[in-house]
Amino acid sequence: MPARLVVLVSGSGTNLQALLDACADPAFGARVVAVGADRHDVEGLARAERAGVPTFVRRVEDFSSREHWDAALAGGVGAFEPDLVVLAGFMRLVGESFLGAFGGRTVNTHPALSPAFPGMHGPRDALAYGVKVTGATLFLVDAGVDTGQIVAQTAVPVADDDDVASLHERIKTAERTMLVDAVGRMVRDGWRVEGRRVLLGAAAGPAGR
Ligand code: GRF
Repeated sequence: MPARLVVLVSGSGTNLQALLDACADPAFGARVVAVGADRHDVEGLARAERAGVPTFVRRVEDFSSREHWDAALAGGVGAFEPDLVVLAGFMRLVGESFLGAFGGRTVNTHPALSPAFPGMHGPRDALAYGVKVTGATLFLVDAGVDTGQIVAQTAVPVADDDDVASLHERIKTAERTMLVDAVGRMVRDGWRVEGRRVLLGAAAGPAGR
């Protein structure tokens, strides 16, 4: 049985698309059973609809508090019984209800090499700092901002003539490959967490996830 992925998006959904494309191969070992968003009318939702994948939306502004929104988000995700939840360009912090239900099996992708440049503007902050190498990080979501244990990272050079958009595009190309590769390994071979370290595949040992 392929693992069940629920993917959450806020925008263009190119990371989601990479997962949808990978899941077309049964050997990948997963399928996207639903896509959720925190807003209507984003390309990520349209990509899901074109792929015939059910969608749901939970907008913060439709709830009386962040906590109620978070619980509703967790309910929306839980209805699809995911094995793994993937935040792919989902621009919201999840809270206690969500982490209570899906902590330890929710990953997020961030366009910087953690622990450098957490937050909403990884490419901009890396460029402003003047680093020569940046990249993307896949991590297990915790209550912090891009602070969870690192599952995978990929490095990307910064070019002298980069602006934020060109750098982010180069990061996103590498990020999609990293995401598909790491999610595939997680669902096929399992993972284990030892302190800050996440061990994938054979290194995770027979217990897997
Ligand atoms: C990705 O770079 C992600 O890391 C960041 O926003 C971008 C989302 O891209 N948070 P997309 O919606 O998957 O195209």
